[in-house]
Parts: sequence; structure tokens; C-alpha cells
Amino acid sequence: MRLVLVGPPGAGKGTQAQYIASNLSIPKISTGDIFRANVSGGTDLGKLAKTYMDRGDLVPDEVTIAMVRDRLSEDDAQDGFLLDGFPRNVAQAEILRDMLKDWGQALDLVLELVVDDDEVVRRLAGRRTCSQCGRIWHVEFDDKKDDKCDACGGALFQRDDDKEETVRHRLEVYQEQTAPLVSYYADEGILVGVDATGPVEEVTQRAMDAIRPFL
Ligand code: AP5
Ligand code: ZN
Repeated sequence: MRLVLVGPPGAGKGTQAQYIASNLSIPKISTGDIFRANVSGGTDLGKLAKTYMDRGDLVPDEVTIAMVRDRLSEDDAQDGFLLDGFPRNVAQAEILRDMLKDWGQALDLVLELVVDDDEVVRRLAGRRTCSQCGRIWHVEFDDKKDDKCDACGGALFQRDDDKEETVRHRLEVYQEQTAPLVSYYADEGILVGVDATGPVEEVTQRAMDAIRPFL
């Protein structure tokens, strides 16, 4: 299964990606996670990406596409993958389609996680990420009283781009650049929308129900 998750910041793409990828036994490839790993590692790519991420802008296409091409070329992605956060605009979608076509592959399904702006702001304001295992938590919904990961004991941190003004800008960037992908993939006949409100497990259930006919 070659699957893409699309949806606004805070829709729960990263949260759902960890469960869906594990259910389907395919690698989860998150461009946001790869950029953040490069920022923490102090690489040249990380230094470049950070200037865009801190503002809530997209990292330039040529940088992002080269990174995704390398990752999709790895052995574990040959029989399927779940892309979280890529493509992010129509230009990236077109290059992805051509890249896969060259390899005799194509996307099977694009899942759109649908959630309104107020819920996004609530979710991002309370988001905490584990510095050790990368798991995503929420102070309110997961009733986090300390800043330790319940899974591995690692310290939790708040992302730099979750400040309110940056979140607002990321939502604008989503509307302008990423939302057009919804009609792009609807025209290709591979888009399915999933209601992303309600408890995490219910959203996963809805997503798996939407995926099953395409397996
Ligand atoms: P990226 O990391 O992709 O950020 P994003 O798209 O803004 O998405 P988020 O990670 O903020 O949200 P999410 O939908 O994954 O939500 P989550 O599951 O964490 O990108 C960051 C930056 O990298 C970009 O701004 C850009 O600069 C750059 N970048 C990345 N890809 C790029 C590309 N292709 N091209 C160019 N630049 C790129 O959930 C949020 C919170 O809600 C969590 O606390 C979670 O616990 C909680 N939650 C989740 N589901 C539920 C639920 N059902 N009920 C209650 N709470 C929930
Ligand atoms: Zn952890």
C-alpha cells in the first residue's frame, strides 16, 4: 500500500501515521520528522530547514524533494509506505507522481484528515513530543501531569513552531498551498476524507475502514 496523509497542522497526521503504518507493516515517512532530526543533529540540511520551519513556511521544494527521493529509494519503502507531510503543494505532488511512475509505482490512496481550525489550535497548544522515542502526547487529552513520556520515560518538549502566531501562519500556508491538493487527488480518483475529530482510536478505526477497500 502506497498511502499519503494530508490535512492541516494538528489534524493528527503524525498520531494516526504511527498506528496506520504499524497496522499495515509499512514504513512511516514524515518529512517534518526528518527535518527535525536534521535540526537536532545540526546538519547543513537542518540549519537550512530551521529558518523556514521556525517561521511556519515550507522548506524549498528542491531540498524537500531530493530528501524524499533518497528516502523512497531505500529498501524498506519498495513494497509500500505511508507519507506524512509530503506532498505539501501541487508541484511536489506532480514530481512524486512522475518519480513513482519512473519506478513503475503509483499511489493507491490519499487520506484527508478533516478537522476545523479551533480544534487544531487546541491540539497544537497542548502538544508535547518525546525527545527519546518521538511519541506524540497532549497535555489535556492524555492528562499529562509531568513532562515525561509514558512509553519510554524520555523528556517531553514543545515544538518551536507551536507558538500561537506561528500556528496561525502555518494554517494560512496550509490553505494557500496544501489545500489545493485535496481537489488534485479527488480529480485523480484516489482521495478519501476521514472525520478526524473524536478520540484517537476512533479516528484510527475510521481511517482503517477507509483504507481496507484499497488493500
Ligand atoms: P510537519 O511536522 O509536517 O507539521 P504539520 O503538517 O504542521 O503537522 P503537525 O506535525 O503540526 O500536526 P499533525 O497533523 O502531525 O498532528 P499531531 O498528530 O502531532 O511540518 C513541520 C514543518 O516542516 C513545516 O511547517 C515545514 O516548514 C516543514 N515541512 C514538512 N514537510 C514539508 C514539505 N513536504 N515541504 C516543505 N516543507 C515541509 O497531533 C497534534 C496534537 O493533537 C498532539 O498533541 C496529539 O496528541 C493531539 N491529537 C491528535 N489526534 C487527536 C484526537 N483525535 N483527539 C485529541 N487530540 C489529538
Ligand atoms: Zn518516549
